[in-house]
Amino acid sequence: MSTIEQLKQDNAEFQWHPMAHPAAMKKSKPDIVARGEGCWIWDVDGHKLLDGVGGLWASNLGHSATAVRDAIVAQLDELPFYNTFRGTSHPRAIELSAQLVKMMEPDGVASVMFSSGGSDAVETALKLARQYHKLRGEKDRFKFISLRQGYHGVHFGGMSVNGNTNFRRAYEPLLPGCFHIDTPWLYRNPYTNDPLELGEICAELLEREIVFQGPDTVAAFIAEPVQGAGGVIVPPANYWPLVRKICDKHGVLLIADEVVTGFGRTGHLFGTRLWGVTADLWCLAKGISSGYVPLGATAISAKVAQVFNDDKSGQAAVGHGYTYSAHPVAAAAALATLAQIQALDVPGNAGRVGAVMQERLRQLEKTCSFVGNVRGVGLMLGIEMVDDKATRTPMPRSSDIPARVAKEAYQRGLMVRISGPNLILSPPLVISLDEVNHLCDVLEASFAAVEASL
Ligand SMILES: Cc1ncc(COP(=O)(O)O)c(C=O)c1O
Repeated sequence: MSTIEQLKQDNAEFQWHPMAHPAAMKKSKPDIVARGEGCWIWDVDGHKLLDGVGGLWASNLGHSATAVRDAIVAQLDELPFYNTFRGTSHPRAIELSAQLVKMMEPDGVASVMFSSGGSDAVETALKLARQYHKLRGEKDRFKFISLRQGYHGVHFGGMSVNGNTNFRRAYEPLLPGCFHIDTPWLYRNPYTNDPLELGEICAELLEREIVFQGPDTVAAFIAEPVQGAGGVIVPPANYWPLVRKICDKHGVLLIADEVVTGFGRTGHLFGTRLWGVTADLWCLAKGISSGYVPLGATAISAKVAQVFNDDKSGQAAVGHGYTYSAHPVAAAAALATLAQIQALDVPGNAGRVGAVMQERLRQLEKTCSFVGNVRGVGLMLGIEMVDDKATRTPMPRSSDIPARVAKEAYQRGLMVRISGPNLILSPPLVISLDEVNHLCDVLEASFAAVEASL
């Protein structure tokens, strides 16, 4: 057996994959990615592909950012690991916290707490939100409200606020006190086709839920500025500003889960800036280190930080943190990443070339009989496939059409991601205009090939 065949067999035998049936991996072997350069990857068989997935919304600087690589190597030589628990720190953690807070000063951020990934960043935010209210004497404020279709990672807190029951079902019962309201989803909602009206209605649903629960029991509302894993759902422009007002009116904290949208993906440095609002806590990961080394961060607004800093009761110690919080190698990678984001104007590129991607792929709604809706902003885009366009009948989970489109794209040299009926694109944010046009060419041909075969 060749080394490559052995690798594939060992994968099926020994490795369990996230969000996959262990046995399914034996039948259909995963794509094994062996090498990366710029926005391109090569599979273990030597097949070259444009990385339409960006690692997993993460490889924002592509796969050969030498500045990040050099920072990692230098840090390994200087100090491979030290912790940041009470009483200790290290230079990279301090420099990164200062750099990140400086970057987010216009958003009202005062401090940051590090972790090892997006799920950690969410967990940290949920716990800080509860502690904030306890410190202020509002001890009953423990509930969380979130959106259906929202995704907030896989820890017990994040899972409890997730809006997709597929991610929750096998692990229930979850955290008590988590409630879900409708996503402002223009393509699929029972209310209206008018975006601004939908924004108002869905914001009102939040207010109604807060009032129904009792405002003095609600700790926070958590949402993604643009939903990613749920199928790239972009809310109407008035939604987040209205949500901000409602949260303020009822003393509810607003947690922006920016694990996907943070650091430029929407064409703005942060998703909250896209909507012209600030949050009280931000969950950050993925793009913070361009995926080179795992890192999560929870950014804390001055409003929240002040309550902790001013506490005289002794209850403000944060009883939370990870061995690898602000891991020096990850912090070094993030410092180099943040410098590159600014030097290359990464959000600007995402906005410019993203607009071309959005414009071109939206045509699929007209040209392809089974594309119901193409939506997105910047360099995040979802293509929802349907059974019947006129009635918007969802494509059944059992349909093999999405997988066939992905396979056609793969064969033509483009890696995409399928999530239910959605094809999701999240390429590196440094992708060039030529590469974006190539991505669109390949995808158009892939949809046309599947359509011709039906
Ligand atoms: C919005 C959002 N929050 C949280 C997470 C969890 O991040 P991680 O997989 O790094 O734990 C993700 C992952 O995709 C995400 O998209």
